[in-house]
Amino acid sequence: MSDALLQIEGLQKYYPVRKERLFGGSRGQVRAVDDVSFEIGRGETFGLVGESGCGKTTIAKLVLRIEPPTAGRILFEGLDVATLRGKALLAYRRNVQAVFQDPYGSLSPRLRVRDIVGEVLEIHTSMTRQQVTTRVHEVLELVGMRPEHARLFPHEFSGGQRQRIAIARALAADARLLVLDEAVSALDVSIRAQVITLLEELQRELGVSYLYIGHDLATVAHLSHRVGVMYLGRLCEVGESIEVSTAPQHPYTQALFASALPTKPGDQREPLAVVGEVPSALQLPTGCRFHPRCPHAMDRCSAVEPVLQPTSTSRRVSCHLMTAGSEVVGREPAAAR
Ligand SMILES: Nc1ncnc2c1ncn2[C@@H]1O[C@H](COP(=O)(O)OP(=O)(O)OP(=O)(O)O)[C@@H](O)[C@H]1O
Ligand SMILES: [Mg+2]
Repeated sequence: MSDALLQIEGLQKYYPVRKERLFGGSRGQVRAVDDVSFEIGRGETFGLVGESGCGKTTIAKLVLRIEPPTAGRILFEGLDVATLRGKALLAYRRNVQAVFQDPYGSLSPRLRVRDIVGEVLEIHTSMTRQQVTTRVHEVLELVGMRPEHARLFPHEFSGGQRQRIAIARALAADARLLVLDEAVSALDVSIRAQVITLLEELQRELGVSYLYIGHDLATVAHLSHRVGVMYLGRLCEVGESIEVSTAPQHPYTQALFASALPTKPGDQREPLAVVGEVPSALQLPTGCRFHPRCPHAMDRCSAVEPVLQPTSTSRRVSCHLMTAGSEVVGREPAAAR
C-alpha cells in the first residue's frame, strides 16, 4: 500500500451545461477536471497552480466531498472517500478541513470566535463546554492569537487575523489535511508572508498535510514540496517545486514562471509570454489543449493529446516535445509552419 495520505486517481468532474449557453442549442459539458492523478504524503504540501478556470477549486470541492466526481477515485489512508458513510464519513470530515480565500465570508458574522473555532469540536468530539473553550484558547495561541480573542466577533479583526481564525478552526479537531484554496491571495503582501510562515511552522509542529491552491506561482512554489501545474482541467507538469520552478519543462509552466519573474533593467531577453486567451473548457482544442497558445507547437500537437509521462524519477510532463526520439525535431514555432 502507498504511504500517501491522499491519493487521487483519474479524477474527473464534468458539469452539464444548459442548452442556451451553447451555440446551436446542442447539449454539452464543461470538463472542469479531466483525468487528474496525484498523491499527497503525510506532512507534505502539494501545490496546485494554474490560470483561472483550470479546475483547481473543483478539485478542492471533490476532495472535501462537497460534490461527487464524475469518475475516478479519491483515497484517504487507502479508503475510497466516495464509499464513506456514517462514522467513517464524520471522521473524514474531521480529518480534512478547508480554509478559503475569504475568511469574512466563511466565518459566521454573528458567532463569537469561541463558537466558530469550537464548532468542529462540538460536532466531532464529546468534550464538555469548558473543555471546548480550553481547546479554543490553546488553538488560538497556536496560530499566534490571544485566548481573550475568543470573546470577539469576526468583524473586530483584520484580514490576516481572520485568516488565522479560519486556520485555528480548521486545526481545532486535529485535522490531517488542510485544503487551502487561495487562502492567502486576498491578503497584503507582508501579511501574506506572515500567514505563510505560520502555515509552515504549523506543518513542522503538527505534521499536517496541505493541498495548497493558488495562481500566484511564486507563492505556491515557495510553500509546496511538490507542485502540479494545471491547464484546462488537466495536469501538464508535476514535480518537486524546486525542480519545476528552476527548470520547468512544459512550455506552459515555462511561460507561467517567465511571466512571474520581474523584468530586470537591461535584460534584453523577451520573457516567453502565454499568448492568447484560455480556450473554453466547453470546446476544448483537439490534441494538446495548450497547442493554440504554445510557441513550440508541431503538427502532432493539434492531432494527438499528449499524456503525462515521467521525465525523471520525480517529474511527469505531458508534452510531445518531452517524448524521447524523433519528435523533438520540429521545435519551430507554430507561426513558422
Ligand atoms: N457548478 C458548475 N457548473 C458549471 N460549470 C462549472 C461549475 N463549477 C465550475 N465550473 C466550471 O469549471 C471550470 C473550472 O472551475 P474552477 O472554479 O474549478 O476553476 P479554478 O481553477 O478554481 O479558477 P479560479 O482561479 O478562478 O478560482 C470553469 O470553466 C468553471 O466555469
Ligand atoms: Mg478557484
